[in-house]
Amino acid sequence: MDSDWLARILGHEELRGMGHGQRLGDANIGLGWLYYALVRVERPAHAVCIGSWRGFVPIILAQALRDNGEGGRVTFIDPSLADDFWADPERTRAWFASFGLDNVDHHRMTTQQYAETVEHRNGTSVSMLFVDGFHSAEQARFDHEAFASRLTEDAVVLFHDSIRRKTSLIYGEDKPYVHTVHEYIDVLKQRSDLQVMDFALDSGVTLVRRRARAAQGG
Ligand SMILES: C[S@@+](CC[C@H](N)C(=O)[O-])C[C@H]1O[C@@H](n2cnc3c(N)ncnc32)[C@H](O)[C@@H]1O
Repeated sequence: MDSDWLARILGHEELRGMGHGQRLGDANIGLGWLYYALVRVERPAHAVCIGSWRGFVPIILAQALRDNGEGGRVTFIDPSLADDFWADPERTRAWFASFGLDNVDHHRMTTQQYAETVEHRNGTSVSMLFVDGFHSAEQARFDHEAFASRLTEDAVVLFHDSIRRKTSLIYGEDKPYVHTVHEYIDVLKQRSDLQVMDFALDSGVTLVRRRARAAQGG
C-alpha cells in the first residue's frame, strides 16, 4: 500500500457512501478498516464479493490481497441492476486499474445466474465472502447458501446492511424496497455451529464464521 491509497479512494464522493462509515476529514475508511484487516490477518487466497455500488468493498479486499503479496484474487458478482456502472467490461477493468488493482474478476450476473456457471461448480474454495447484493433476507440466505459448499472451514462471511430495517430507493424512486437482511442474521444467531457478531457502525456489517470444533466442546 502506498501513502496515496486512502486519498485515492476517499477522493471519490461515490466511494464515501453506502453505509460503511467512511469520512474524508480524518482519512477514515470506517468499516473498510475491518475488511482490510480481516484480509491481512486471515490471508484468504480467494475472496468473493456479491454486489457493490461503486466498488468500495472489492477495492478494499483487492488492495489487502495485493498487500498480502500472495496472488489472491477477488471474484466480484454484480449484474449492474442499480444503473449501468458495471455494464461495460473495459470500463470496469479500467475503474479497478485506476486504483492500481488487476486482481478483481467481475461477473456481470446475479448470484442466481453465477451459481449455474461451470466456474462456480468447479471453483476453488472461498475463504472470505462479502454479501452486499439485494438486501432481502431471502436473497441474503440465497447468496450465503450458494457458497456454502465452497467455503473453507474457517471462512469469514460478512453481511452488509445487516442490522436494521431500512427502505432503499437504489433501484428507483418508484421501486422502494426494504432491507431485511437482519432477519436472516437473527436466524443465523440461533445456530450453535456459528459465531455471529454485529458491528453497528453506519449501515452495519455482521461477521459470521463456523465455531471452532474445540469451542463446541468436541
Ligand atoms: C448498490 S449495492 C449495495 C446495496 C445498497 N446499500 C442498497 O440500498 O440496496 C447493491 C448491488 O447489488 C447488486 N445486486 C442486486 N441483486 C443482485 C443479485 N441477485 N445478485 C448479485 N448482485 C445483485 C446490484 O446490481 C447493486 O449494484
